[in-house]
Amino acid sequence: MRLKTKLVLAITGLVFVMVTVLSILYLSQLLHQQVEQSFSSNDILAHQIVFATRHALEIGFKNHPVDSKHPEELRKSVAVSLREDQGLSAMLNSVIRYSPTVFDISIADWNGLILVSTDVGQNDQPVPPRPDFSEMRNGTLVHLIQAVFGKPRVYDVSLGAERNGEREQNGKPFLTVRIGIRSSFLSNSFQPWLIGAFTFSGVAILGALLVSAFVANLALQPLTQISERLDAFAQAEMTGELESGYSSDAVVQVSYKIERLGRRMRNVEEVFSALKENLDQIMTNLEDGILLFTRDARAVLVSDSVERFLGMGRNQILGVEIHEIFDRTTVLGSTVRDAFDAGVSIVQEEITTETGRRVQISLDFIHDDHQADRRQTLGALLTLHDLESVREIESELELSRRMAAIGRLTSGVGHEVKNPINAIVVHLELLRNKLDGSDDRALRHLEIIQSEIQRLDRVVQTLVDFSRPVELQLQEQDLREVVSSVLLLASAEFETRDVQVTSLLPDSPVLAKIDSDLMKQALLNVVLNGAQAMADGGKLEVKLNADGRIATISIRDHGEGIPEEIRQKIFDLYFTTKRDGSGIGLAMTYRILQLHNGQVDVQSQPGKGTTFVLALPLSNVTDVRLRNFLPTGTALSKEPRG
Ligand SMILES: Nc1ncnc2c1ncn2[C@@H]1O[C@H](COP(=O)(O)OP(=O)(O)OP(=O)(O)O)[C@@H](O)[C@H]1O
Ligand SMILES: [Mg+2]
Repeated sequence: MRLKTKLVLAITGLVFVMVTVLSILYLSQLLHQQVEQSFSSNDILAHQIVFATRHALEIGFKNHPVDSKHPEELRKSVAVSLREDQGLSAMLNSVIRYSPTVFDISIADWNGLILVSTDVGQNDQPVPPRPDFSEMRNGTLVHLIQAVFGKPRVYDVSLGAERNGEREQNGKPFLTVRIGIRSSFLSNSFQPWLIGAFTFSGVAILGALLVSAFVANLALQPLTQISERLDAFAQAEMTGELESGYSSDAVVQVSYKIERLGRRMRNVEEVFSALKENLDQIMTNLEDGILLFTRDARAVLVSDSVERFLGMGRNQILGVEIHEIFDRTTVLGSTVRDAFDAGVSIVQEEITTETGRRVQISLDFIHDDHQADRRQTLGALLTLHDLESVREIESELELSRRMAAIGRLTSGVGHEVKNPINAIVVHLELLRNKLDGSDDRALRHLEIIQSEIQRLDRVVQTLVDFSRPVELQLQEQDLREVVSSVLLLASAEFETRDVQVTSLLPDSPVLAKIDSDLMKQALLNVVLNGAQAMADGGKLEVKLNADGRIATISIRDHGEGIPEEIRQKIFDLYFTTKRDGSGIGLAMTYRILQLHNGQVDVQSQPGKGTTFVLALPLSNVTDVRLRNFLPTGTALSKEPRG
């Protein structure tokens, strides 16, 4: 129901109740007054009749003396006296004629038989049973209203008359004067008044309806105004023009306040959403696993990396209770749960998980500083810190730093060495011209010096090339094409070495952002090594795989394998075990993979064969660190010692 309708109904209801109550009070008062008035006037009349009756009896007894010992005679004489008395009958007749309320008058004897009545037919009959008028005098309002609107009845006002101041037999009065009064006298005088009262009430209620509607309108007008101002405010917010100012009108002031509140709320909302965005970003990029628990142990803030520690996604954990997240049967789970249940903080405690991973745990309980009871916590913050990955990052950083320093050093040295080499070459030529073929032995020495100088020049050139910063030409490429073209390039080598190649490539494209020339070079080096490792020929298997985040190319040969003692060195620049090898191949492969945020893994069994795995992030992966993707337990690539 609308507020306005409610208000109108309430006011109307109130007016209705008030009108009704007042009307009832007034009516009851008026009816009682009327009844009282009627009683007193008829009581006076009864007294007058009693007086007239006594007078008539006095005269009657004087004219016809009677022996009061004989009741029959006495009755007869009394009846005759009363009936013959002119004054009495005149009085009774005039009352009947002119009084609107009197129905009949009768005088009865001590036995209840009528002696004289205005209704002649009643003479010598017993008094008709009628209710006493006092019933009406003491009656309730309902009683009175029944008398007004119900069936007309006759009520008696009676008065006893004694003879010589004595009561007759059985204490009954000698004579009784009864005046029958019609109840209709009430309806006659009250009905028009009551109809008027009802009409008035109706009009009053109708008026109240109108007035209340008007009042409701008036009362609700400020609300409508506020609502209009809010609409205008919302409109202005959109268009950017907001009028402001001061008014003494309370409504306008209230709406200004609402405007200001709205603006403040909007600001808070903006700050809050910016904060939330920042927090989400932080939570996504955090290396550490962070879980914030509420007082009732539910996780409300979870960093993405928690998945690495718990194997559960962030969305699986949010809103879940701590005992559902951490399993007591695991080292990590029991450490966290024990501390949490006991309400004890954990300060950088190191544990080793079932998979051998070393994790540092911190648990802090957050207390409300404003609360007197400091034991009451607001929640808890759990931090999981991966010690392995920290170490790896540190060593990777160190490696990059060293590589950069070596690069700078080698290019500097190379430059410095190349100039004297050039000078030596020039002077050697001059020396050769001066000797002019005169001394054969000296010329042979010269040639040896020249060929060694050329070898030195090549070494220095490789060193400079290798350490020069490379600018990658990254393009999205299908790795299947890279693999196929490398196998084609090496096909001649396979043929001469009697190597059968099997390649397993996925059906759908495996896209990665790579410098395809460099990547082909990297793969070619490994493929050629594989072929070269099988002196008597054999099978070489090349497999390309994509698992959603990374692509792996594995190259497996069934050659001699790599002895344990040199496995650490194979990625080193210039390390070779081959007679005509340069030892650049794997160092280059390692570097190229590193430039692509990839890595090289090697597993080998001497005498049985070797498997190299090149891993690369796929195009759709933004987090390019592969460390977390490779299965645990595999030996990671060794850093080259340049
Ligand atoms: N598949 C393999 N099986 C056995 N040993 C290998 C294999 N791949 C590499 N090696 C070992 O690692 C060494 C270094 O290899 P790398 O490719 O860097 O140099 P290289 O092959 O000797 O010379 P280059 O490739 O420069 O011609 C090799 O000399 C060899 O001893
Ligand atoms: Mg090689």
